[in-house]
Amino acid sequence: MRILFATSEAHPLIKTGGLADVSGALPAALHQLGHQVEILIPAYPAVLDKLADAKKVCTLHHLPMVGEVELWRGTMPDSGVPVLALRHEALYQRAGNPYLDSQGHDWQDNPLRFATLAHVAAILACEDSPLPEHFDIVHCNDWQTGLTPAYLYYKRSQRTNLKCAKSLMSVHNLAFQGNYSPSWLTQLGLPQQAFHLNGVEFYGQFSFLKAGLFYADKLSTVSPSYAAEIQTDDFGFGMQGLLQSRKQDLVGILNGLDTQAWDPATDPYLPAHYSAKQLDGKQQVKLALQNSMGLAEEAGTALLGVVSRLTHQKGLDMLLEIADEVLQQHAIQLVVLGSGEATMQQGFIDLASRYPGRVACQIGYDEGLSHRIMAGCDLFIMPSRFEPCGLNQMYGLRYGTPPLVNRTGGLADSVIDSNQESIASKQANGFVMHRAEPDELKMCITRALSYYAQEKLWQQIQRQGMSQELGWELSAKRYLELYEEMLKPQKRESKEVSSKVGTVSAN
Ligand code: ADP
Ligand code: GLC
Repeated sequence: MRILFATSEAHPLIKTGGLADVSGALPAALHQLGHQVEILIPAYPAVLDKLADAKKVCTLHHLPMVGEVELWRGTMPDSGVPVLALRHEALYQRAGNPYLDSQGHDWQDNPLRFATLAHVAAILACEDSPLPEHFDIVHCNDWQTGLTPAYLYYKRSQRTNLKCAKSLMSVHNLAFQGNYSPSWLTQLGLPQQAFHLNGVEFYGQFSFLKAGLFYADKLSTVSPSYAAEIQTDDFGFGMQGLLQSRKQDLVGILNGLDTQAWDPATDPYLPAHYSAKQLDGKQQVKLALQNSMGLAEEAGTALLGVVSRLTHQKGLDMLLEIADEVLQQHAIQLVVLGSGEATMQQGFIDLASRYPGRVACQIGYDEGLSHRIMAGCDLFIMPSRFEPCGLNQMYGLRYGTPPLVNRTGGLADSVIDSNQESIASKQANGFVMHRAEPDELKMCITRALSYYAQEKLWQQIQRQGMSQELGWELSAKRYLELYEEMLKPQKRESKEVSSKVGTVSAN
């Protein structure tokens, strides 16, 4: 199978969140299984730095508004997966966050930057590509590559016998949609007629994600529960009608985790190592973490941890709401690493100053510290209001730090609440809230602490998570099955596409 994996971030080249983890690890797993996969990504400065061996392979001409772009090929530092870096000085050669300027605002030219990425993916996906390699599948991820299936559709409507790869649109987070003014449409090389309910129009705007959801051959998202949730009014962010109408084409495949990068027995970011069989080193990591974060070095005090984007999605405002009460009722400590909304950042900074030695907070992004928090804490707190998959709870499982989560999306699919029954059947691996409400979070923390006080039970819960199969192999096989299904010959394909355009009447 030949797969072009188009993405706007991929670990270890550049990362703002879970999309990067998946874009690093899934292609690596497919590569391991013997398939030819290439990652297409913008050549941000960080990407070029880390692809030290990159060589120019070709120049593409006549791209709308930008003219020429170059493709450079290198290999992923860890996995050896080939990477095509899309080079254009003005579009991608800027330092910092791939989506935001230093003030935290979206780069003004994001529609052009990511339409160009999506357009190049569509060009490479067809037989008239300037590269000798041909692809069977183009795998698009989130709104940044949502236009690829639209470009493919219009390319093929001009040359109906043109052979192109099949397109899969994966949704990592439906809340981010890439919605822009319709005036961009023709500037970006799409026809005006695409601005239609049965096309890229979304409540009067031009939506990159809607384009992907409408034109792609198949749709996927990152957990079975989220696949069901996004078809409902509560979680659909306005796309639920379209998703319901395409439910036959939509699957949920739970993310795995990179078991090499996240292994407490070998993790280079940790001062000591441990495993399910030999847990001792975990305590050393805890003491070192307490020390480095200015917390009292108390091995027996339950240490709660957070590593997160600080946004409404993640529900950490609820933790702020109950923190005083919980800290007064229980002898616990809390360590928080994150960045995001200013009020939430300030809330955690203030909390830490009210509880010196008991609460520590670092605002910002720090890969090493995120690993040390995962390893050094006792309980990982993740009360997300919605969570397409979530990787941190899985890192918590693997690091013997039982996650406390809200029952939604991938959290519901990966964490099993500890209760009499699940303890007896040796399934329990964490703690699950039933509703995203501050009181429920408080009760769940209290419940988790009562288990923490029972050392044997706690170790059983820790070991259950640590011994689970959380790697990518199983999920990568599911993606392969999906790709294979997409490649099965379909009768009168062009007819089918047009009947799809005619029947979708959602939104
Ligand atoms: P999302 O992608 O919605 O933010 P996930 O749980 O899927 O949530 O993935 C988040 C990823 O980003 C994890 O690898 C997590 O460790 C990492 N991460 C989030 N915030 C930070 C931070 N402040 N510093 C370091 N890593 C972070
Ligand atoms: C998004 C989601 C997160 C998911 C990640 C990778 O960032 O918010 O839940 O784990 O993508 O799929």
